[in-house]
Amino acid sequence: MSKFVPSTLRKLSIGLLCTVSVFGLISIAIAERATTTDRAFIEMQTSLNAIMVAVVDWSAHEVWEAGYAETMTGRNWLTAKQYATQLLASGTLVSLGGTGPTDQTWVTNPEWQRWSSRMIDDTREVLRAIEAQDQKMLVAAGERLVEACEGCHEVFKPSIPTEGIMHVPHHDYGDPLSRE
Ligand code: HEC
Repeated sequence: MSKFVPSTLRKLSIGLLCTVSVFGLISIAIAERATTTDRAFIEMQTSLNAIMVAVVDWSAHEVWEAGYAETMTGRNWLTAKQYATQLLASGTLVSLGGTGPTDQTWVTNPEWQRWSSRMIDDTREVLRAIEAQDQKMLVAAGERLVEACEGCHEVFKPSIPTEGIMHVPHHDYGDPLSRE
């Protein structure tokens, strides 16, 4: 009897361990398969037209300016990184579409998604150049990025934007805190 109890306990605990690890593996597998749209998310509260001007265009110009700047201090590189991160995140917003009159038609077109992915890939390369503090690499990545903007615009962008929101020409580029 005194021998029986420990061995039964051992079997029980081995069984329990196996069950726990099987469940563990299953939950890891589920976690790996889960994507953003598998759970509730908040719909975009703004249009693609507004996002293009306020986020995409704004941050992209900062990145291009950084590529052609005469000098880049450590602080300038940090600023460039913030904008490149905004641009990268905006790629997903562009792929989702928002409240604009044509947004949902655009985002359900596979070609739209291809151009959005291309913009995201090019922005990843921009971020790599910024992390390496390599202006030559940044210019090259920036030039590829222009192709992504223009490629999508050629197919989808109306000559007058649906909500009349246009590029902001008076925006000052660079780090606002480093200006006098
Ligand atoms: C996946 C497609 C797509 C990509 C990629 C894209 N755009 Fe756009 N963009 C559009 C569409 C469509 C509009 C017009 C929106 C509307 O009319 O509602 C637009 C509008 C704009 C506008 C406002 C209209 C104007 O002519 O002034 C600017 C500025 C702009 N985009 C800049 C950019 C820049 C810069 C990039 C790249 C960094 C870019 N876009 C990438 C599809 C795209």
